[in-house]
Amino acid sequence: MPTKIDMAKFAKFCKDTGFIFQSSEIYGGINGFWDYGPLGVELKKNIKDAWWQDMVRNPPPGPDGQEIRMVGLDCSIIMNPQVWVASGHVAAFADPTRKCSSCGKFTRADHLWAILAECEWMNSLIQVFTPITGAIDTPRLMKWADAKGKKLAPNLALVRNPQVTLTWLAERVNSQPGNPPSLQELTRYLATEQFAQTGLQDPCPACGAPLGEAKQVSLMFESHAGLEKTAESKVYLRPETAQGIFANYRNVLNSTRLKLPFGIAQIGKAFRNEVTPRNYTFRSREFEQMEIEFFCHPKDGFKWYEYWRDVRKKWYSTLGIKSDNLIPREQSADERAFYSVGTTDIEYMFPFSDEPQELEGVAHRADYDLTQHAKHSGKADDLAYFDEELWNNDSQAMATRSFKEWLKSNPTAEQVAKYKFVPHVIEPSAGADRFTLAVLTEAYSEDKVPDAKGNLEERIVMRFHPRLAPVKCAVFPLVNKDGMPEKALKLYRELKAHFNVVFDDKGAVGRRYRRQDEIGTPFCVTIDGDTMTNDTVTIRDRDSMQQRRIPMAEVRQTIQNVLSGG
Ligand code: GAP
Repeated sequence: MPTKIDMAKFAKFCKDTGFIFQSSEIYGGINGFWDYGPLGVELKKNIKDAWWQDMVRNPPPGPDGQEIRMVGLDCSIIMNPQVWVASGHVAAFADPTRKCSSCGKFTRADHLWAILAECEWMNSLIQVFTPITGAIDTPRLMKWADAKGKKLAPNLALVRNPQVTLTWLAERVNSQPGNPPSLQELTRYLATEQFAQTGLQDPCPACGAPLGEAKQVSLMFESHAGLEKTAESKVYLRPETAQGIFANYRNVLNSTRLKLPFGIAQIGKAFRNEVTPRNYTFRSREFEQMEIEFFCHPKDGFKWYEYWRDVRKKWYSTLGIKSDNLIPREQSADERAFYSVGTTDIEYMFPFSDEPQELEGVAHRADYDLTQHAKHSGKADDLAYFDEELWNNDSQAMATRSFKEWLKSNPTAEQVAKYKFVPHVIEPSAGADRFTLAVLTEAYSEDKVPDAKGNLEERIVMRFHPRLAPVKCAVFPLVNKDGMPEKALKLYRELKAHFNVVFDDKGAVGRRYRRQDEIGTPFCVTIDGDTMTNDTVTIRDRDSMQQRRIPMAEVRQTIQNVLSGG
């Protein structure tokens, strides 16, 4: 289990240091939207760059040691709405949602109890009752209802009509003395006034009133293209980057002459009108995805599925995520999307939850997407794959070298499919913001280190993997005289042509180290008296806090070696 951290304190830290800000905070913010500050934008860029470098430009070798062919795309966010009809999003991209009968707020039905567990009134109420024994402390519950309850959950049945509510509950407890109600059942009793008419009710996390029935609500953000807001001009903000890849499959094949197997990758914004955005940036309404659609021969689908599942898990480990916190979980058949024949969620033990949560999904989507687009666009030929090499080889022994001519001889579907077929697709789909949050929580640590006088003082240190650290190196002159600032500035200027580097000449050097530890800078280089005589500097390691002396001319290479794993 990862160390639990106080998420409110952590969010304040992220704001104070410039990692993450609430969007439009000066107007009270907007639920589900976040901004990255000066350090956050560097961190997230390093994450996206690492993904692009390791998956697109330099992917690891395939299962048989072969080179992986991967190219990138950058598609528009708004596409022809038919794309979303074909993909199934218009009809079915929805979450079960319940509306409060009193305050009108919506709650995602399948997350209700997790949301309740996080809400203030529920946490306060839990202190009052003891679900294990089933003992009901009526006076304490009445007192809670009258004080905290009125403030936190004014529409909860227990608050509105405590006598009636507690009578129903007492009846239940007395009628089954050996079977005390669970926490959930107790809560539902406390949310129910008219038990005989309604049965048990579920409370609204916002105000405590009963929730209505679950209904499917679309997660698609809508807009209009053009000046007229008509049904014809309606468009959607893409809820995933994947469909832009499928829609460009033929363009990519024609422009690159790639042969199967190959991948197309994209990083970009996606938008989902999440019913209950929560857990800081984890579930946002605007976020970035890093997606690969890997096209392969149908017979090789499972081989590539396993390959990508393993490659993707390993990638997180190489960037400093401890394997204990990283849990791949194969979805069961009834949990999988209807088109998927295999899905593994790579889950991460975020510190805000007792259960691992999805960081990335690796799905075997078979031929679902290309087949759907073939059907809806009428471009079946474009969305198939012709194995030209195989045909050229086999046709040498045939009556004709022309595939079109050969089709006239009425070959069986199976014979045709040997040369022309719809590729299968493996999709590793990662969230750039989720991984940024995982990197931030994983790196965050509080410890105590001796100050200049040897007294222990608290420090927050962000133990980022050097590749992801927003700032790679800080350069300090030990004192602001004797030519040290000039020399330090010269080194800083040299280094900043290659890395994100800061120059700091303010305050005691110990304080300057703390400031860098707090933002996760892996190296601090100090120009001191010795530098002025022999051109050596001290280089301090963030984690061990050890300093060693190296020639100033070697600083750049020393940092470079660490960044490239040398
Ligand atoms: N094309 C497949 C697809 O979009 P998904 O599981 O819905 O699959 C993939 O999303 C990844 O996108 C998730 O694993 C997660 O990292 C990220 N993601 C999805 N919804 C998100 C949200 N509301 N906020 C932040 N990230 C999200």
